[in-house]
Amino acid sequence: MITFTLNTPLAELDTLIVPLMQTEDLEAHLAELPEEIRRAVRAAVSRGDITGKKFDIHTLYTDTCRVLVIGLGALEQCSERTWKQAIGVATIKAEEHKIVTLGIYVPTIVQDMIADEALGQTTTIAVLVGDYAYDEFQSIDARPTHISTCSFIGVSESEALLRGIQIGMCIGRGVNFTRHLGNTPPSVMTPALLASTAMELAKEHEHLTVRVLERADMEVLGMGCLLGVAQGSELPPKFIIMEFMNGDAGEKPVVLIGKGITFDSGGLSLKPADFMTDMKFDMLGAGTALGVVHAALLLDLKKNLVVLIPSAENMPSGTSFRPDDVLTAMNGKTVEIGNTDAEGRLILADALCYTTANYDPKLVIDFATLTGACVVALGTERSALFTPHDDIAASLLRSAEAASEWIWRLPLGEEFTELMKSPVADISNISSTRYGGASTAAAFLEFFTFDTETKKPAYPWAHFDLSSAYKGKSGKPWQRYGATGDVVQTVVEFLRATV
Ligand code: BES
Ligand code: ZN
Ligand code: ZN
Repeated sequence: MITFTLNTPLAELDTLIVPLMQTEDLEAHLAELPEEIRRAVRAAVSRGDITGKKFDIHTLYTDTCRVLVIGLGALEQCSERTWKQAIGVATIKAEEHKIVTLGIYVPTIVQDMIADEALGQTTTIAVLVGDYAYDEFQSIDARPTHISTCSFIGVSESEALLRGIQIGMCIGRGVNFTRHLGNTPPSVMTPALLASTAMELAKEHEHLTVRVLERADMEVLGMGCLLGVAQGSELPPKFIIMEFMNGDAGEKPVVLIGKGITFDSGGLSLKPADFMTDMKFDMLGAGTALGVVHAALLLDLKKNLVVLIPSAENMPSGTSFRPDDVLTAMNGKTVEIGNTDAEGRLILADALCYTTANYDPKLVIDFATLTGACVVALGTERSALFTPHDDIAASLLRSAEAASEWIWRLPLGEEFTELMKSPVADISNISSTRYGGASTAAAFLEFFTFDTETKKPAYPWAHFDLSSAYKGKSGKPWQRYGATGDVVQTVVEFLRATV
């Protein structure tokens, strides 16, 4: 755990990060720093070695301090997101040295740009996210140094700044929790481990309770889709129910549903080898929901939240479900299986039905690494949002903005619903064309948000396709290898701000 402080004396720091914009007014930018450091930066700038170009990083030494100058780019293009990423880049760079105490100088121009609470929050999250490494399977000397103290330098102490740091610590821990679950190898991260992780979380807050449904319970409830997906694996499926009832009694809950496929081989519709790598991340929907509740309980958020995690492993074997099978979901609707690799939507279907049968939610949000098509559509930096409700989309996108995350809304609509028709069952699990795959998958989910009796939507609903929420090879300059934890912050902001 990193401790955050304000204005620790420079003599006590191992390294000071100095973020620098491409600005005419260098002296104003460095104003709060001692002359020794200003002189070093001035000299490097006047020789043209340092320009402030975005994420350019240089190490300077004064008699008493190591200084890492990180570029923020031009003032006009510098956003809170730029700041957050630059702090992440510099944290990772700083940790190449054996240091314990890191200082971050916050230039006045940045303090003018980002209000105190947001500054405390976003900087803290950036440091925690930058510091995290999935290194538990590496030998000790191969692991990066992890700093133990981080101090904001050149800031005036305010309650808002300190509050921001506290909030940032809770959210940053939630984000790293999600990342860690995602990064854990699939022999370890099983449905049973997801369930026991949820149980462990329940110990941390008196208003969080957890129940886990076993295969026999699912049979009684008729969760034929989840059972179908799970039947090829040696590992038993779990359906995890977490209730965080920390809001007013009687207040309708927000239900978060996360896809918990702990490994997606594709099943009998086996994935080619290249596409199977990284499919340990196929439980990141579940990881996201768990990261959000983790942050919510650390923040002691006064909300009622329900988390539902259908979890299974998708494997080929003699007992697997097959293409051409017909599965029956918990609400009685039948699904023709066109491809066993379209399994995420199946397990989510039962969770959506379970929600209708057991809750009267204010809103249901599901999270899933659902389609390769989503990555084809949006690239690797943005997650997709689907919802039929413009007001919900607007407020989720606003929360993404506040969290400096990138999210893009993609369409639902009858043209997609149409493509999911089956000649033998109520719906098919694959589309009849290869186009718009992220939207047809979302249309499949939408089908299960309807009440079978009233034929109306059972609750307001939104879906996140998180298929780009991991960086399988090398990570990003501001975030090391693996799961990114994208969308956790957006949802926490959304819960804090709007619901
Ligand atoms: N887990 C995958 C989706 C995925 C693929 C996420 C790549 C991240 C990266 C999902 O279960 C899947 O395999 N979907 C299929 C659906 C198809 C068979 C209709 C896909 O996207 O190819
Ligand atoms: Zn799949
Ligand atoms: Zn999958």
